[in-house]
This record gives sequence, C-alpha cells and structure tokens, in this order.
Amino acid sequence: LTADQANLVQSSWKQVSHNEVDILYAVFKAYPDIQNKFSQFAGKDLDSVKDSAAFATHATRIVSFLSEVISLSGNEANAGAIQNIVSKFGADHNARGVTKAQFGEFRTALFAYLQAHVSWGDNVAAAWNQAVDNTFTIAFQSM
Ligand code: HEM
Repeated sequence: LTADQANLVQSSWKQVSHNEVDILYAVFKAYPDIQNKFSQFAGKDLDSVKDSAAFATHATRIVSFLSEVISLSGNEANAGAIQNIVSKFGADHNARGVTKAQFGEFRTALFAYLQAHVSWGDNVAAAWNQAVDNTFTIAFQSM
C-alpha cells in the first residue's frame, strides 16, 4: 500500500471503527453462513443476539484486528509485522473451517457497509481494494 492509499484507508476506517456491533451485524445479516460458524451464535435469531455481551466482545475483536493491520499499513518497516499477524489470522481461521469464499463474503459486506457510511469515491475504493487484496494474499497462504 502506498502512503497515500494507507492514509485514505486509515481516515475512512476512523469514520466507522467505533461502530463495531453495527459492522458485525451487517456481516451476519448479509451472510448467515458466517454467523453459523460461531458456536455461540449459530442458528440463533440475529436480532436477539445483537445486544449480547458476547456479540460486543467478538465485534470488538474483529474491529481491533482490522484497526491493527490498518495502522501498520503504508510503511515498509511494518511489512514483517503484518506478515506475522495476518498469516496467524489465516491459519487460525483455516483451523476453524472458515473458507476463502467466506472471507470474500466478509469483504463484500464490509465494502457495502463502508460505502454506506464513509465518503466513498474511486480513490477510496481503490485503496481499500488494494488493502484487502494484500491482506488476503497473506492470509490465503495459510488456508
Ligand atoms: C475468531 C469465524 C472472519 C477476526 C473467530 C472465531 C470464529 C471465527 C468461529 C472463534 C470465536 C470464539 O471462539 O469465540 C470467522 C468466520 C469468518 C471470520 C466464519 C468469515 C469471514 C474474520 C475476519 C476478521 C476476524 C475478516 C478480522 C478482520 C477474528 C478475531 C478472532 C476471531 C480477531 C479472535 C481471535 C482468534 O481467536 O483468532 N472467527 N471469522 N474474523 N476472528 Fe473470525
């Protein structure tokens, strides 16, 4: 990611990264197969689990992971750190039976959320696409 692209991703992420529960809700709503991989949420009515502590905890974990990768991006000095945390992330999810197709679904749902909630344009979309491509390239090596 160029420094400019990293700035675009960081500034748009800042506009929504406090909406943890909302983001996870949007992902589960669009893709129940993702919700069903979580033993604590599988088969349950989404609106009934949305306000639970377990939901908030997991939403915060996902958003914090994204925030960490995003904050490291755009600086070549952090390439090794990104490689380490993202390959562990891929391996851990692979071990849980999460598929590359589900990561693709997550990407679609996240982008829909971003488009609806941040100032979106071609340059912002291109920066996010590059960021997710880079992340998935690393994660998929462990899947
Ligand atoms: C943990 C599923 C995508 C971040 C987990 C857990 C499951 C899971 C079942 C374990 C939960 C627990 O034991 O309480 C999935 C599925 C995905 C997905 C089906 C499909 C797309 C993501 C994405 C991120 C993410 C895109 C981050 C951007 C995390 C984190 C944890 C976690 C940080 C907790 C740490 C860990 O145990 O690895 N995920 N996940 N997940 N997930 Fe995901």
